[in-house]
Amino acid sequence: MYVLITALALVVAAAPVISFAPAPARFVPSRARALNAAAAGDAAGSGPLRARLVGTGSAAPETRVTNDNIAEWIDTTDEWISSRTGIGSRHVLSADDPGLASLAARAAASALADAGVDAADVDLVIVATSSPDDLFGDAPTVAHAIGASKAVAFDLTAACSGFLFATVTASQFLHSGAYKTAVVVGGDALSRWVDWDDRNSCILFGDGAGAVVLQRTEDAADSGVLGFALHSDGGGHDKLQCAYNGARRDLATSTGASVTTGAYAPITMDGREVYKFATRRVPEVVAEALENAGLEAGDVDHLLLHQANIRIMEIVADRLGIPREKIITNLNEYGNTSAGSIPLALEEAVRTGTVKKGDVIATAGFGAGLSWGSAILRWG
Ligand code: UT7
Repeated sequence: MYVLITALALVVAAAPVISFAPAPARFVPSRARALNAAAAGDAAGSGPLRARLVGTGSAAPETRVTNDNIAEWIDTTDEWISSRTGIGSRHVLSADDPGLASLAARAAASALADAGVDAADVDLVIVATSSPDDLFGDAPTVAHAIGASKAVAFDLTAACSGFLFATVTASQFLHSGAYKTAVVVGGDALSRWVDWDDRNSCILFGDGAGAVVLQRTEDAADSGVLGFALHSDGGGHDKLQCAYNGARRDLATSTGASVTTGAYAPITMDGREVYKFATRRVPEVVAEALENAGLEAGDVDHLLLHQANIRIMEIVADRLGIPREKIITNLNEYGNTSAGSIPLALEEAVRTGTVKKGDVIATAGFGAGLSWGSAILRWG
């Protein structure tokens, strides 16, 4: 027997190194076992993190633009927009409204109130946005507005994946023990950056912000971020972008130097390509995050995807084998609010009692970058 094992070991050692594509989960523990697995100690990598979600809030502008309203100035119909996207209206910042930082601060303040956490105890504020009021970042303004005077605050840009990426980033600070309390805001005002005469894109986007409060938990069994997976691929950057296109200005100096003066072109999008990307990559990344959490599709109570298109959400649910009834969506009312879409929908689902304490929510963001990611969250 010993000889046989030794011989096998030699054969294996001599075999060429072969790399395999990630294998599907072979061992899938029961939900209860997986949820308690973290109690055995800190998981490494992308498994359970010592962070709990303890409050949520949101804010959206009052001005509401319906599909019929848009049909007043471009060649489209409510029937086309609702059947192709699931969107019925969107909320937009009016020219007289305060900007994105104000929306983000309202969402953050209501999340703190929901959590019963004092702003003075917040260590970290991350604002995920691609459309700040200030190119240098809105997070310090938001932290100041909510009274989080000791918090370090910074923006994070990952387009429609921003909230997901920021939640995982904040959770790492909590998991490491560096910080105890974090506020993560996802918010965008893409109404500022769409071409309102381009029917391919302007029908999709709206403005809004949502926020969560995360706290470090000393008991690893209380983890609220059970597993995650994040990806990006700059090879697809041109499929969806809002690119810098500052005008040339020749400086009147003896060096002959020229510079450009700041401006961005409106959003451009290859809708069909982004659709294909989302329907391929999102089921994969949710499955990867579930595997990292030690869970399977049957353990998911709610599927909360970036609110881009109801057809994308249904295809992802079908591919994962998650019943469509578990999809959380507010797309019909708000459209695609980019980094705001997941926390905006989460807040509504918690407030209306759809999501209850202990529920497992499979979330996924995807969009420009290209970027995509998933986190398996346990509420409360
Ligand atoms: O945060 C991530 C952001 N983006 C996304 O997730 C977008 C993903 N893509 C999509 O959701 C879909 O591709 C869209 C909703 C953008 C478009 O739906 P589609 O079914 O892929 O339509 P299409 O682009 O293939 O266009 C079909 C037709 C075209 O006419 P022809 O060429 O067949 O004559 C378009 O010109 O529909 C036309 N069309 C419209 N018609 C009426 C495009 N936009 C409109 C419109 N109203 N608003």
